[in-house]
Amino acid sequence: MAKPKTQFVCQNCGTVHTRWAGKCDGCGEWNTIVEEDPMGGIGGGPGKAPKKGRPVALTTLSGETEEAPRVQTGIDELDRVTGGGFVRGSAVLVGGDPGIGKSTLLMQAAAALSRRGHRIIYVSGEEAVAQVRLRAQRLGAASSDVLLAAETNVEDILATLAEGKRPDLVIIDSIQTLWSDTADSAPGTVTQVRTGVQAMIRFAKQTGAAMVLVGHVTKEGQIAGPRVVEHMVDAVLYFEGDRGHHYRILRTVKNRFGPTDEIGVFEMSDKGLREVSNPSELFLGERNAKAPGAAVFAGMEGTRPVLVEVQALVAPTSLGTPRRAVVGWDSARLSMILAVLEAHCGVRLGQHDVYLNVAGGYRISEPAADVAVAAALVSSLAAAPLPAERVYFGEVSLSGAVRPVSQTAQRLKEAEKLGFSSAMLPASSAEIPKGGRKGWSEIEGLPDLVVEIAG
Ligand code: TYD
Ligand code: MG
Repeated sequence: MAKPKTQFVCQNCGTVHTRWAGKCDGCGEWNTIVEEDPMGGIGGGPGKAPKKGRPVALTTLSGETEEAPRVQTGIDELDRVTGGGFVRGSAVLVGGDPGIGKSTLLMQAAAALSRRGHRIIYVSGEEAVAQVRLRAQRLGAASSDVLLAAETNVEDILATLAEGKRPDLVIIDSIQTLWSDTADSAPGTVTQVRTGVQAMIRFAKQTGAAMVLVGHVTKEGQIAGPRVVEHMVDAVLYFEGDRGHHYRILRTVKNRFGPTDEIGVFEMSDKGLREVSNPSELFLGERNAKAPGAAVFAGMEGTRPVLVEVQALVAPTSLGTPRRAVVGWDSARLSMILAVLEAHCGVRLGQHDVYLNVAGGYRISEPAADVAVAAALVSSLAAAPLPAERVYFGEVSLSGAVRPVSQTAQRLKEAEKLGFSSAMLPASSAEIPKGGRKGWSEIEGLPDLVVEIAG
């Protein structure tokens, strides 16, 4: 049977429909279905002779794969997030809001790599070569031997890449500008982006170059349109940050060759991105220890401790239903903490508006912040500041028990390094330092522990 000429693809989730519909069954979005050509791939079209593959034994591969060959930038914050450098033959997607600094980061990475003798090609589909060069000059990266190309057509890009010596690393900025002659739909559609990304991944696999793909993120926090791309690449990094603040965080979301919970912290300056090797100092920089409602949370991001201030404001409400507003934390989690405080600790906040903010625009994803949030709430309600030299961490369960969290020792070590002398943490923690006082708590009803951590 002949293949249908066209198919209908949801631009949001990539679900393929046989006919047009107003609403996508896959993701429930309206008006996202667009007619596209199913022959969207490069090569592999009809008429291509099949090539027989040759399976090899898993054990004989070990010599080649013992350690993934990597391209290191020497920018520690970036290398940590990729798991020790970009892996040759693999594809990495760097996502983030427009204007957050993706192009800046990658231009700096390209310059750093080329200074280390690597061959880098930077393909810009968004800016002209002159613009990219101007930016590179601003960043002090203009003297490096990074090769620039301003192209958006996939076939042209492949021809450019195939020319001359093989590159060690290719940067495509951005995948949303890619379009291929073989895909018969408008640039920016799922088919075009997917076709382009497929071609780039194939190039990386064939030549052993590391491929870095830049993708813009939509308001909903997805790589614009094609979620599909996330599944195709080996690693996904998100570059995020608050426009009102200067620092930016590079976060691993997926990584086939390394850990997925690492972050790299940068600060945007007039000379581009600067590495921030001690993020705790940055997040605690503007701290006012005497204010009620502020608790310092000793958190972890991957292998790295991050201390950050949790701020709560509790005020009598003038509304029928009190307000709950959260910035930098999960609002469902806040509701849970409020319920636990009410049920087990006698802290009644039903007639109070509750605002919670994580200082510096930082976002906490760990449940270990529960105790810090609870302490901040109680402190604000009581209008009494918490001890300035104390950090807080521990997960609170619905029963009111405080559960131990991982990496207690690292959290305490970082706190001590930054001048904190005590910590409130789960009494059942495995690694409790000497001198801990058990069964003492600032929050009545939560059986915690205060530990002196400095002599
Ligand atoms: P850019 O890398 O173009 O963002 P993206 O590629 O993610 O869209 O960054 C643009 C922003 O960064 C812009 O608002 C200006 C700012 N910026 C600086 O503050 N300092 C600099 O040295 C550079 C190059 C950019
Ligand atoms: Mg850009």
